[in-house]
Parts: sequence; structure tokens; C-alpha cells
Amino acid sequence: MPELIPEPSRVAAAGQPPKLIDEYVGRANTGHDGLSIAHMRSPGGWAEPGQRPEFDEFTIVLRGALVVESDGAEYLSVCVPAFAPARFIATNNPPPGRRGNTAIAEKEAEMTGSQIDAQYSTGLSRPRIEQALIAAGQDLGHLRPADLGPLEDFHTMGRIATGQLAELAAITSEDEVLDAGSGIGGTARFLADRYRCRVTAIDLTEEYCEIARWLNRLTGLDDRIGVRQGDVTDLPFADATFDVVTSQHVQMNVADKARLYREARRVLRTGGRLAIWDIAAGTPGPLSYPLPWADRPELSHLAAAGQLRAAVESAGFAVEAWNDLTGQAAALMEAFLALPASPLGLHAFVEDFAEKARNLTRGLSSGRLRVIQGVAHAVA
Ligand SMILES: C[S@@+](CC[C@H](N)C(=O)[O-])C[C@H]1O[C@@H](n2cnc3c(N)ncnc32)[C@H](O)[C@@H]1O
Repeated sequence: MPELIPEPSRVAAAGQPPKLIDEYVGRANTGHDGLSIAHMRSPGGWAEPGQRPEFDEFTIVLRGALVVESDGAEYLSVCVPAFAPARFIATNNPPPGRRGNTAIAEKEAEMTGSQIDAQYSTGLSRPRIEQALIAAGQDLGHLRPADLGPLEDFHTMGRIATGQLAELAAITSEDEVLDAGSGIGGTARFLADRYRCRVTAIDLTEEYCEIARWLNRLTGLDDRIGVRQGDVTDLPFADATFDVVTSQHVQMNVADKARLYREARRVLRTGGRLAIWDIAAGTPGPLSYPLPWADRPELSHLAAAGQLRAAVESAGFAVEAWNDLTGQAAALMEAFLALPASPLGLHAFVEDFAEKARNLTRGLSSGRLRVIQGVAHAVA
């Protein structure tokens, strides 16, 4: 029985800058797992990590060449069995009944969770942080929130960026805040301490959630901060629960940007604010890995700043501030790298942090990475 496929689904792609994969037949668009057919468009300068896929791929090049020098390429890709990404971006929702099956979606969520866990968990973060605090002369029985400053902000420009973002979002003591992708809880503690607001912190990495709870207790902020383990693309909160959603350096791990910001919009009250500090793709060209959010290119889902802004706006937000702070961040990171080592820093619990920070700084200084500060309000 012939069946019309009215539109493809956009599937998340590896590579830098990312290619576009529009899948017509396969797991994302039609639920077929025996075969997939996708229309691929690769921009000039595109490079892809080496892969060992568990399918045979037949490629029909429509334009350009697959070893892309300048112009990009366009081709059809037929995979047997069907291409199975870790996660797909369904910018065009497949028609009801053709969405693939829930088991596949659950499997993909599981894979994403375990990849993120493998990226961030070491099983040793808490004892390492404890040692670092003691080496820095801190008394764990009398820890103040500010004592943790150099250690807990897992994003470019650290506490400076958090402070600027909070000011821009005009957070007050009346606000119910969600920190989406909260890491070890630095942003949540900063906001709860400075603005006396209630904060919910959510992160996929259980090890980080446990550390956040422990540090909240040590700093006496556990009565104002709740910590949940969970996925920012599937938030376990009712609609219109929060006044502010903050999210710093999390989006780069999330392939499905549309779903990320739709979830942020859903849990915000109308008029509430979304405040983000995120890395975006800059000028095309290879990046050095590991980066702070991804040891390998497959874990990095960078989008250009314009695409991020469009994803935020399409999710039901009006942008109030959108600042590219790449120059400032690169200069600050260069200065930071020149500082003598101190016991308190992200290197205390982030594997290979010095190398990750150097690669990030190189990406920012070369313009291949951009860093964006944005605040948007939720519209009806
Ligand atoms: C680079 S760290 C940033 C942590 C924190 N926002 C900060 O700035 O200190 C990225 C964090 O995002 C979390 N993350 C990545 N993908 C996530 C997802 N889908 N849902 C929830 N957390 C996620 C990771 O577990 C990690 O803690």
C-alpha cells in the first residue's frame, strides 16, 4: 500500500560544523528500523569524527564531494539497518502514529543519560573536592557559600558570568528559580545566598546531584535549595511552576534544542525569564578535544548563535538581551590560564581540566566557538 511521507524529521548530527540530516524513512520519521533514507547537507569545512556504525551506509552524492574542501556537499544516505543516533531533533513532528515507538525513544534517552554520566562522573568527585577544600585551608564545619566560589562554577568566566546573568535576569527574593543542568550546584547556591530566593537544581549526573546536596548542607543553604536528578528535556515539574529558569553551559550537551527550550517555557509562568550562558558554534573549522563539556565530538551538539536564538524564540520566548561576549571571555580565559595553580578550582574534580580549558580558550580566541549571554521572557 503506497504511503505519502509529507515531511522529514531533522536528526541531530555529529561533526563540526554540524551537517543537516533530514530523515524521510527511518527510526525518527516513520518508525522503520530496518532501513533509513536521509537527505544530507554538509557545509563547507565540515569534518566528522571517525565512527564505527552498526549499519551499512550507501551514499548517493548529489552535489560536491564527501571530502569537503570548500563548498559543502549534498547527498542521499541509505542505511541498513536504519541509522540510530543517540538522540534526534524532530523539528518537524512526524504525523501521529508514525513516530517510531516509545521503546526507541526511551532507549535513546537512556543512551543520552549514560553518555552524559560517562562524560561527567568519576566516582571520586566528592573526596577530591573535600581534599581540595582542606588543602585550601577551609574548615568543612564552617563553610560559607563564598568559600566555594573558585571551585563550583563549571562554565566560562565562572562566578563573573553567573553574577552578570543574574543581574540581567533581575532575580529577586520573590522568584522561584530553576537551574537547569545545575552541575555541583554553584549557581543555585549563589542565587539562594545572594538573592534569598528559592532554587530548584536539576541535573542528569547523579554524582553531581549528590555533591550539590552535600555542599548545600555544608553551607547551610539546603533549606532554600532542592536538588533533583533528571533531564532538562523532560522536566519532572508541573506547567508554570517557576519565575526564572537559568541554564549555563548545558545546551551544548543537548541535541534537541527545540525540546530543551519548550520544556523551559512549559515550566515557566507567562512573563517569567529564561537566562542562559552558553557556547555556540562560531566560524567553521576543527576544534580540539577534549572540551569541558565533551571529551569527544559526538557528545558536543553545538549550534550557531542564530540557531540557538531561533530555538529559544520558537519555544515561546521574546528575547530581551542577546550578548556575544566571546572577546571578553577569551581574554579572561587567557588570563586565567596564566595564573599559578591553586588547590581550589575545577581541576579538583573535572578530569583533564587544564587541557579542556586550553582547548576551550583556543576555540574562543580563534572565533570557532562563541559564548552567548541571553535573557528572554516567556510570552503567552
Ligand atoms: C559544563 S556542566 C555545567 C554545570 C552548571 N550549569 C555550571 O555552570 O556549573 C554541564 C552539566 O549539564 C548536565 N547535563 C547535560 N545534559 C543534561 C540533560 N539533558 N539534563 C540535565 N542535565 C544535563 C551535566 O550533567 C553537567 O552537570
